[in-house]
Amino acid sequence: MAVAPASSVLVTDALTRRFGNFTAVDGLSLSVTPGEVFGLIGPNGAGKTTTIKMLTTLLPPSSGRATVAGYDVVHQATEVRRSIGYVPQLISADAQVTGFENLWVFAGLYQIPRAERRERIREALDFMGLTAVGNELVRNYSGGMIRRLEIAQALMHRPRILFLDEPTVGLDPLARDAVWDQIERLREHYGTSIVVTTHYMEEADRLCQRVGVLHRGHLVALGPPAALKESLGRPDATLEDVFAKYTGEEVELSGGYREAGRTRRVAVRLE
Ligand SMILES: Nc1ncnc2c1ncn2[C@@H]1O[C@H](COP(=O)(O)OP(=O)(O)OP(=O)(O)O)[C@@H](O)[C@H]1O
Ligand SMILES: [Mg+2]
Repeated sequence: MAVAPASSVLVTDALTRRFGNFTAVDGLSLSVTPGEVFGLIGPNGAGKTTTIKMLTTLLPPSSGRATVAGYDVVHQATEVRRSIGYVPQLISADAQVTGFENLWVFAGLYQIPRAERRERIREALDFMGLTAVGNELVRNYSGGMIRRLEIAQALMHRPRILFLDEPTVGLDPLARDAVWDQIERLREHYGTSIVVTTHYMEEADRLCQRVGVLHRGHLVALGPPAALKESLGRPDATLEDVFAKYTGEEVELSGGYREAGRTRRVAVRLE
């Protein structure tokens, strides 16, 4: 697996991360195609963020391999970083300065030539629907506006692949829709591949071409939402049912999880 196949923008092969004796991500093998929105779902502690940190070169794998945009995450970390955008799970925008100023910092970080910075920032603000508030302090932004600003930060250098760790957590349904509208436009406009984690099953169902279900570090189900639902053999199955079946846990409205008293017996791949 020296070079990712042309049809994949991301490939992992038995990717594993241990913390001491504890294995947070265990033998993860999957691929993401160009322009795909790939969802990672699973209960708290399943290993979603750990996976994203390995793929964004922030955390070295304990074993296994991954290539992102054709580059090895360990041996070609610099090239990987140039090819990706990353929006972390926790809010990362600086509230004390304006949206424009936040983007200015990232334009420098991504080494966008000085002469192009203003135009790129203008484009990014426009693309994420933030032009009207670009000169306001971020502390006056709503949660949805902050998330859209963070996505703008992550895409200014036009990455081939964007990693979004719970981009819509804590947002009201309208703000979530606004974030997703922009994500969809990104994909259509630039063909950007997107790896996204979410606890909102309905969102994953509607917006991801394929979904991987992680449970205690294992990939327990993988495929298009429709195929995963069909695998349950009931016409009315939802992605929440898929989640419950393959993780043995149930999604709660609060975003937490409750043991459903079921044990997972099978893993399914329906790629
Ligand atoms: N630096 C670390 N040291 C030790 N354990 C860690 C570390 N980072 C993560 N873990 C553990 O690895 C497991 C996976 O964590 P991770 O953050 O990847 O889960 P997650 O699927 O993103 O969960 P959530 O939905 O709550 O964000 C958890 O049990 C967590 O406690
Ligand atoms: Mg996480």
